[in-house]
Amino acid sequence: GNRYTGLINRYRDYLPISDDTRIISLGEGNTPLIRLKNIPKLIGKDVDIYVKYEGLNPTGSFKDRGMTMAVTKAVEEGSKAIICASTGNTSAAAAAYAARAGIKAFVLIPEGKIAMGKLAQAMMYGAITLQIRGNFDDGMELVKQVASQAPVTIVNSVNPYRLQGQKTAAFEIVEELGRAPDYHCLPVGNAGNITAHWIGYCEYSTPAGHKPTDSCSFCNGHCRFTGGPMNGSRPKMIGYQAAGSAPFMRGEAVKNPETVATAIRIGNPQSWKQALKVQEESGGWFDELSDQEILDMQRQLAMYEGIFCEPASAASIGGAIRDIKNGRIPEGSTIVCTLTGNGLKDPDTAIAQCNNTAVLKTIDATLDQVRDSILQSMGL
Ligand code: F0G
Repeated sequence: GNRYTGLINRYRDYLPISDDTRIISLGEGNTPLIRLKNIPKLIGKDVDIYVKYEGLNPTGSFKDRGMTMAVTKAVEEGSKAIICASTGNTSAAAAAYAARAGIKAFVLIPEGKIAMGKLAQAMMYGAITLQIRGNFDDGMELVKQVASQAPVTIVNSVNPYRLQGQKTAAFEIVEELGRAPDYHCLPVGNAGNITAHWIGYCEYSTPAGHKPTDSCSFCNGHCRFTGGPMNGSRPKMIGYQAAGSAPFMRGEAVKNPETVATAIRIGNPQSWKQALKVQEESGGWFDELSDQEILDMQRQLAMYEGIFCEPASAASIGGAIRDIKNGRIPEGSTIVCTLTGNGLKDPDTAIAQCNNTAVLKTIDATLDQVRDSILQSMGL
């Protein structure tokens, strides 16, 4: 039948698997591309803005795209355990796909610096959850070191299968729009996802007669196709970081990264070189947003469009809106912003942001007070 069974099955011709590969899937991918209706009017600009709502993946973030591939290949190669360092979403995905595969997951997370929903997920899926007294970058170094001393497969984005899975988001966007967007905006932490999207766009846009070689600027020798469906069109890739964790803006690693957007609280990105290459090849750029800009955008997207993403995700759309307003992204453009994770992941930050606002009131359980609240809120 037509039952959707996950991105590996859908894009198996573009992924490094064989007919015999046992696929570990939770039905990830195939997420909605939602066209914004109200925010473009509010800013008074003639632009087509779409958000790719990756928060609707099985564990609530884009990490599921990479994890279905990484765990499928780990199992295929005989691995009995996986490990990752994480700011919360990778660990949730690793835990879930390991549970599905029947193997063990070990996750290293920065103590006190991951959103509650993500911590709940790692524990519920049964991952051995190691809270470290250190940040993500410390955890990443430890994971790389321990992998030579214990039989565990690393499923951070340094695992090349992760990016292979994540590139499929670009395929979905191109298929839905019928072409590549002019601009694609993403929040950047380790810079794996921006790299993965570029791989996807490049593979889908290989010109007719293309031959995959190492020097090919479209596929770097990776793609197995001679002429993708898009014949040359690729977006400019724009990466937005949180100001307190913006190594790409500083031009060097950030020692003690800080931001309310804990998902991208990263000072030493693992895919640094690849992301610079993406910026150069695509003609895009990096920029940074303050925590307040990130939170304001998160709330506006929820209030004006009905779309609830986590703080880190709002960096993409927040940066895009700023660059549309200032003209760096010209009118007439088609823009896709990836909303990397679901707003429900981080209820504490959301509630803290809405406290002391008119949306929350405590009243007596009386008809009088309920009616008066309604009339007052409606200005009647
Ligand atoms: N948005 C969210 C919600 C994330 O969880 C991450 C990364 C990013 C954006 C940045 O993506 O690292 O590929 O540039 N989260 C990782 C984790 C670090 O451990 O969950 P990137």
